[in-house]
Amino acid sequence: MEMDYPQLYRQVAFLPKRDANIALREFSINHKWRENAFIVDFGSGDGSTTATVLEKHLPVCYNKIIGCDISAKMVEYANENYGTNKIEFIEWDITQEIPQHLRGAFDHAFSSYTLQRIKQQKHAFSNIYDSLKEGGSCLLLILGRYLVYDIFRSLSRTKKWAEDLKDVDIFISPYHDSQIWSRLSIHSVFSIRDGTDSWQIISS
Ligand SMILES: C[S@@+](CC[C@H](N)C(=O)[O-])C[C@H]1O[C@@H](n2cnc3c(N)ncnc32)[C@H](O)[C@@H]1O
Repeated sequence: MEMDYPQLYRQVAFLPKRDANIALREFSINHKWRENAFIVDFGSGDGSTTATVLEKHLPVCYNKIIGCDISAKMVEYANENYGTNKIEFIEWDITQEIPQHLRGAFDHAFSSYTLQRIKQQKHAFSNIYDSLKEGGSCLLLILGRYLVYDIFRSLSRTKKWAEDLKDVDIFISPYHDSQIWSRLSIHSVFSIRDGTDSWQIISS
């Protein structure tokens, strides 16, 4: 689900930044970034997490970060405020076909607080996989259980909010009701693309 208010998002996006920082710190301790790496950030939003958190954890010798987002407004804002010669933001819906030049192009994929917004999970995960080079890795932060979703659900059953929240299930994480993920609210999944066309989950 697209978001269209970059300035507003920037003011409230402290949780993604905090969680991305923790996950990236752990990733950087336990795993190696490739030399001269080409990196993608799926669902980069206003670009602030990409430029002020992800970038700070990379070795200086990284090649380039591409942030992608389904929202043209987010992409425009991100390029204006955080674009550099090494950070570029592009419009791309990750459930749609990968642009040819980005197929198998990336050494590392990153995503924070985005995948839970997507209903076509299989398409998104296939595309993340296909965007990576052989041996490339990804670090994905996905919102699972979240108290606020329960509040939305309860409100949607009240007379006052029923109309406004009639599509409530569209924005509830597909992992919110998961039995496996029921106790934690944020999950980081780290995985490597191996040669077998399957996910080799290293940690989660
Ligand atoms: C909650 S924001 C997260 C932004 C940023 N990653 C962060 O951690 O601050 C989620 C972003 O995902 C984008 N998004 C939603 N569905 C998408 C899709 N199918 N493809 C690409 N981006 C998508 C939204 O437009 C929004 O900017």
